[in-house]
Amino acid sequence: MNKYLSNPVLDLISKIAFETNTELYIVGGYVRDIILKRPTKDIDVVVVGSGIEFARKMATAIGGNTNVSVFKNFGTAMLTYKNYEIEFVGARKESYRIESRKPIVEDGTLDDDLQRRDFTINALAVGLGKENYGKLIDPFRGVEDIKNKIIRTPLDPEATFSDDPLRMMRAIRFASRLKFSLDEVTISAISKHRERISIVSQERITEEINKTMLSERPSTGFKLMDQTRLLEIILPEVHAMKGVDVMKGRMHKDNFYHTVKVLDNLCKKSDNLWLRWAALLHDVGKPLTKKYDECSGWTFHGHDYLGSKMIPAIFRRLKLPLNEKMKYVQKIVRLHLRPISISGEEITDSAVRRLLYEAGDQIEDLMILCEADITSKNKETVRRHMNNFRIVRRKLREIEEKDAIRNFQPPVKGEEIMKTFGLSPGREVGIIKKSIKEAILDGIIRNNSEEARRFMIVKAREMGLEPLEGKNPENLRTGDN
Ligand code: CTP
Repeated sequence: MNKYLSNPVLDLISKIAFETNTELYIVGGYVRDIILKRPTKDIDVVVVGSGIEFARKMATAIGGNTNVSVFKNFGTAMLTYKNYEIEFVGARKESYRIESRKPIVEDGTLDDDLQRRDFTINALAVGLGKENYGKLIDPFRGVEDIKNKIIRTPLDPEATFSDDPLRMMRAIRFASRLKFSLDEVTISAISKHRERISIVSQERITEEINKTMLSERPSTGFKLMDQTRLLEIILPEVHAMKGVDVMKGRMHKDNFYHTVKVLDNLCKKSDNLWLRWAALLHDVGKPLTKKYDECSGWTFHGHDYLGSKMIPAIFRRLKLPLNEKMKYVQKIVRLHLRPISISGEEITDSAVRRLLYEAGDQIEDLMILCEADITSKNKETVRRHMNNFRIVRRKLREIEEKDAIRNFQPPVKGEEIMKTFGLSPGREVGIIKKSIKEAILDGIIRNNSEEARRFMIVKAREMGLEPLEGKNPENLRTGDN
């Protein structure tokens, strides 16, 4: 263990502890992560005595204008040094009341302090004082649990989860991120106390969902949420995708298991939290659009559109940002069928151009989701879809190079249309503008002002309009010269 302690921050803490004869320990996640060889920049220090006083001594030793943030109510103090965030707290004992996850706190011993912690893997301490430098304190066999990759609570799991129900989400998040498992006792305790999640603030729950979402394989976490029945409370729309219906011997796939598989596939290609949310929610419109049709079997017509409409309410409830992140998720969900639908028998340039126009800068992310969405076990089906997507991607590149559609700006503006034909703002201007855009997207003309102006004259003529200057369209002065 000592070799992990040679770090300038820990050296300084230890030096002060020696000088002032203070008993203190590094605890919790920092020790866990040393053993897991996952370096972290957050250090939690438990001082047998006053954490705040010790933090002040450390700030004085560092000198300069080191700031100590003191949270008197919690008895904690924090400072940053060499890019580490170090939190000091006095050893404490905690007890809980039924209506709140905020404990009543008393001074305590290190043993009390480790006992109050959520999981055995977090109830570890290493001494940094004179008497116990480098000594690992592991009263609940947390190191063994780390080796066996298991999340257990130090005390009775029922009490642990009932006292602080956020720990149910933390258990799932740790299992998902660290690739650990939860034993039967832990799962059934979470399941039993799942309704207690209602005393936890939505922000905290969502923070844990986000951390789970950022695992390498988030399916682990979402399946555990399902298994413990937390999913139906915190993400009912995702839970509604569970299940398989059978009609006249025909069944559809279980959309929950499909979704988490898509999410895992996507996570191999992208770290973008919002794209991961789009993957989790891409089929969320399916339960409400599900129909059985005698000819085509199970259908989910319009689930892309309905799903995108459901996003704002979900984001609002989860207290996720209601800004461009939400719009991004909506857009990806709305468009998620497009790349597959244009890649049927023949992939036309015009369909690809329209897709590029609608997806804009999100085209790459959309393609990543669509590729992740192929979860068929049939190798031939996968090969065919992937091949079609390769063609779509190639065409997207070619069209982007040729026509610059991605961030489409109309090459002829409404003002110019009005000026050319002496029109005031109104329907006719809109029709001409739209027909130019459509002609570009259909590949009738290219995306440049010269061809757009010629087209404008022809279109206007069809509508009985002539340019004020009365010139032949072939010679018409362009706005640029
Ligand atoms: N802790 C707890 N119950 C909670 C939250 C935290 O017992 N609801 C304890 C755990 O011992 C944890 C420590 O407080 O190790 C620090 O909490 P935190 O910083 O939230 O978590 P870490 O374990 O450090 O992990 P991470 O930084 O990955 O969230």
